[in-house]
Amino acid sequence: MSHPDLFGELPPGDPANSSALISTVSPVHKAAQLRGLLHHHTHAYYTLDAPEIPDAEYDRLFRELQAIESAHPELVTPDSPTQRVGGKVLDAFAAVRHRVPMLSIRTETDTEASGAEAFDARIRKELGLTDSEPPVRYVAELKFDGLAMSLRYENGVLVQAATRGDGETGEEVTANIRTIGQIPLRLPPDAPAVLEVRGEVYMRRDDFEALNERQRQRIAAGIKGEKTFVNPRNAAAGAVRQLDSGIAAERPLSFFAYGLGDITPAEQGGPQWTTHFDMLQQLKVWGFPVAEQTACVQGAAGLVAFHQRMAAERDALPYDIDGVVYKVNDLALQARLGFVTREPRWAVAHKYPAQEEMTTVLAIDVQVGRTGKLTPVAKLAPVFVGGVTVTNATLHNELEARRKDVRVGDTVIVRRAGDVIPEVVSVVLDRRPAHAAQFTMMTHCPVCGSLAEREEGEADHRCTGGLFCSAQRKQAIWHFAHRRAMDIEGLGDKLVDQLVDSGQVKTLADLYHLKLHNLANMERMAEKSAVNLLEALEKSKQTTLGRFLFSLGIRHVGEATAKELARHFGQLEAIMLASEEALLQVPDVGPVVAHSIRTFFDQPHNREVVQALREAGIQWPEGEALAPTEMPLSGITVVLTGTLQSMGRDEAKEKLEALGAKVAGSVSKKTHYVVAGAEAGSKLDKAKELGVPVLDDAGLAVLLTGEKP
Ligand code: IVH
Repeated sequence: MSHPDLFGELPPGDPANSSALISTVSPVHKAAQLRGLLHHHTHAYYTLDAPEIPDAEYDRLFRELQAIESAHPELVTPDSPTQRVGGKVLDAFAAVRHRVPMLSIRTETDTEASGAEAFDARIRKELGLTDSEPPVRYVAELKFDGLAMSLRYENGVLVQAATRGDGETGEEVTANIRTIGQIPLRLPPDAPAVLEVRGEVYMRRDDFEALNERQRQRIAAGIKGEKTFVNPRNAAAGAVRQLDSGIAAERPLSFFAYGLGDITPAEQGGPQWTTHFDMLQQLKVWGFPVAEQTACVQGAAGLVAFHQRMAAERDALPYDIDGVVYKVNDLALQARLGFVTREPRWAVAHKYPAQEEMTTVLAIDVQVGRTGKLTPVAKLAPVFVGGVTVTNATLHNELEARRKDVRVGDTVIVRRAGDVIPEVVSVVLDRRPAHAAQFTMMTHCPVCGSLAEREEGEADHRCTGGLFCSAQRKQAIWHFAHRRAMDIEGLGDKLVDQLVDSGQVKTLADLYHLKLHNLANMERMAEKSAVNLLEALEKSKQTTLGRFLFSLGIRHVGEATAKELARHFGQLEAIMLASEEALLQVPDVGPVVAHSIRTFFDQPHNREVVQALREAGIQWPEGEALAPTEMPLSGITVVLTGTLQSMGRDEAKEKLEALGAKVAGSVSKKTHYVVAGAEAGSKLDKAKELGVPVLDDAGLAVLLTGEKP
C-alpha cells in the first residue's frame, strides 16, 4: 500500500529545504505527511466504507500528529484531522450571510405517481415543449431527512460550514461540521479556488438508536439536562447546533452532497459543467459522499419508476428519507426555468407517506401468551402511519418497557416501516403529564390471578397458572387444533373463546366430549358447521406421534423437534419417562429443550391431560424406536421450492420425513436434493450455483420410493 501525501501538501518556505537539520524529517514535513495520510484514510473509512488500515493504526497516526501539533501549535492548520474532535465551546454562533441564497424546493403533496407526472408536465409547458419533442432528462435523488448545510472551501480547504437559517443568513457551525468524518477538510488540487458544496447533514438510524440508548442511560444516572431525541433529524439538528463541539463530536453525523452554492465562475477558471449529474460526479471524485441511488432518468415515466423503486428500497436504507427530489439535469435549462419567489422551477420534492407519527398512550395492557408469557402492549390513540392505522404497539417485556420508559399518558413517536410490526421509537418527554407513573409488571396474572414470575436471567414474566389460566388454555387449544398439530378444521379462535368462556371446555380432552347441543348454543354456529366440526374432531383422533407431541404445546418443542422425538423414541411412554440425558441423544435437542420436556411430563396434570386424550380415542401407529440411520432416506437433506404438480409442499415434506429425510428451508452445500416445482426462484438459482442436484415431480416420486435418484 502506498501512502501518498495525498494532495502534495508541502508548506511554503519549508525549513527542511533551506537549512541543514539534525533530524532527517522536520516536524513541518512530518505533520504534513501525517495529515495527508489521515485524510486519505478518513475518506476510505467514512466515505468509501472501505478502510485500508486497522483502527488502531489510524489512532496511532492520529496521536502522532496530535503530539507534533501540541509541541508546535503554530503547525495546526484548519484542515488538520485533529480539528475534527471538537472541543471549542462557543457563546453563540456567528451569523453567516450566504453569498448565494440557500433556497428550498417546492413540495409535491400528491404522494402518488401523478405527482411526478404533474411536475414533468409543468416543466414541458414552461419550456414550451410539444408532445412530439423528446422527454426531458432529470436527475432523481433521495430526499434526505436531515438539515441543509453549506460547506465553503477556499483554495481547497474547508473554511466555513453554515446552516441554512432563513436562506439569506445562517449560522456558522464549522467546528461541529469538522467532526463529521465524511466531510473532506481538504480538496484535491484541481478543485476551484472557491467552492460551496451544499447537502444534507443527517444521522443514520443505527447511530440514532445508539445515541438515544446512551442518552437514556445518562438520564437514568441522574445527569441533569440530558434528553432523548424524537427522531434522527432532530438528533442531527441538536448535534449541529451544539455550542460545545466536543459534544457534537460524540454524536455521529453523516453527509450527502446534492448541490452547489458560490463557486469560481467558468470564465475565471472554474469548472465547466453542463449538467447537474456531471457536477455530482465531480463532487464524488473530490471526496464528497453522493448517494449511490442518484439516477439520470427520462421524462415522467423515468420519474415515476424512480419514485416507485425508492419506495420499495426505502425501508432497507440505513437512514431516513421522506421522499425523492427531481431536478432538471441540463444546467442551461435550469437557468431558463429560473425561480419563483424562493423556489427553483426546475426542482421538486416528491414525498412518501410518513413512517413515523406522534400519538398518545391510552393504557398499557398486559397480554398472556400460550406459554404464559406476559407481554405489555401500549394501547395507542389510533394513528395512521406507514399506510395503516395503528392502535397497539408491543413493549415486549418489563425491561424493554422501562428501557424506553413508556408511561400511560405519554406522547410517543410510533414507527411502522414496511411490514415490520409497529413500535414505539421514543417518548416525547417534554409532553409527559405530571404524575405519569413508571410501568411495573404486575405480580399476578391479569387473567387468572396466579402468581407472575420472572426466572433468573430471563426478561419475560410468566403466569404460573398453566392450563388453569383461561388465557393460556385458549391459546393451548388454538395451538392443539392447528393444521400442523391435530388439524381440527373449523375450530377457530372465536369459537375457542366462547367454549372456554362458557366453561364447556376446561381441558383439551373436553373437546372430544362436545355434542351437537353444546355447539348449537354458540354464536354464529350453524348446524352444518357444528356437524362438520364434530366430524373434524373425530377425524383428528387418528394422528401421528409427532403431531400429538407438537400439539401438547410443550415449551421449546416445535414441529421439527416433535418429529425427531417421535422418530427417536417410537413410543410416547418412552418419551414421558426419558431422562434429560436420554432426551439429549435426540438430534436438535439441547439442554434447554430436554429440561423443558422433562419438566412438562413431571407435572401430574400434564400426564393427566395426555391420559384423558388417549382415553378420548386419540391414537397413532406406535412404532419401535428407530435409529435414524435405519430409514431409507436417513441422512438426506432435501429442500422444496416452487409449486409441485403432484402434491402440496406440506404433503411432500411429511412423506419425505416419514422416510427419514430432513426437509430444510434453505439451500446450502449440505443439501442433497432440491425439488423444484413451477415458479421456483432464488432457491433454485442457489442450487444451480452450488451444483446441488435438482429434481422435478418425477424425481420426487423416485425419491419417495426410498431410492436415491
Ligand atoms: S435541493 C435549490 N436536494 O430538502 C434546491 N434538497 O427544501 C435546494 N433536501 O432543506 C435543495 N434532500 O435540506 C435538495 N436531494 C436533495 C435533498 C434536499 C434533502 C432538503 C434540503 C432542503 C429541503 C428542500
